[in-house]
Amino acid sequence: MKIYIGSDHGGFDLKQELLGSLSALGTSLGKSFEFKDLGCYTSESVNYPDLAKLVCESVLDDYKKLPHFTASEDALSYESVGILFCGSGQGMAMKANKYQQIRAGLCWNSEITTLAREHNNANILCLPGRYINSPVALEMVRIFLTTPFAKGRHSIRVDKIANTI
Ligand code: RB5
Repeated sequence: MKIYIGSDHGGFDLKQELLGSLSALGTSLGKSFEFKDLGCYTSESVNYPDLAKLVCESVLDDYKKLPHFTASEDALSYESVGILFCGSGQGMAMKANKYQQIRAGLCWNSEITTLAREHNNANILCLPGRYINSPVALEMVRIFLTTPFAKGRHSIRVDKIANTI
């Protein structure tokens, strides 16, 4: 599975701390994850929508190679997801959710992350770099990458998210 990662300066420190632990996470889960850090690469101030755009468009480019796409099919089965970090996680989520096939969840603990996958079939995890520490974030990433979409009644609801109003 490809995991595209991006942050602004507000999420940079947490992103860097997590990058060191992510390959071990893949090994411990017995899964082959390909983590791609799309920046930012320093703590210099940048605009978070630019990084959200890079990550979302990378995920969506991978989706284009697939024969079909439905919002209610488990996003993990598409083998391409994203993780975005900013100070609050909020701006990244707002930008990412502008893309019709993206469901970005702003999460701050394990339970919310589980629900973002089980109920909302999130394909982007947004993390608030200034409000959570790296052990908490690592556990949330583990949950995000391993929790299946529950389908059933939730399929109807995520299909409705994809519908334009
Ligand atoms: C940057 O100062 C901050 O606004 C950004 O990281 C994020 O929190 C935006 O939502």
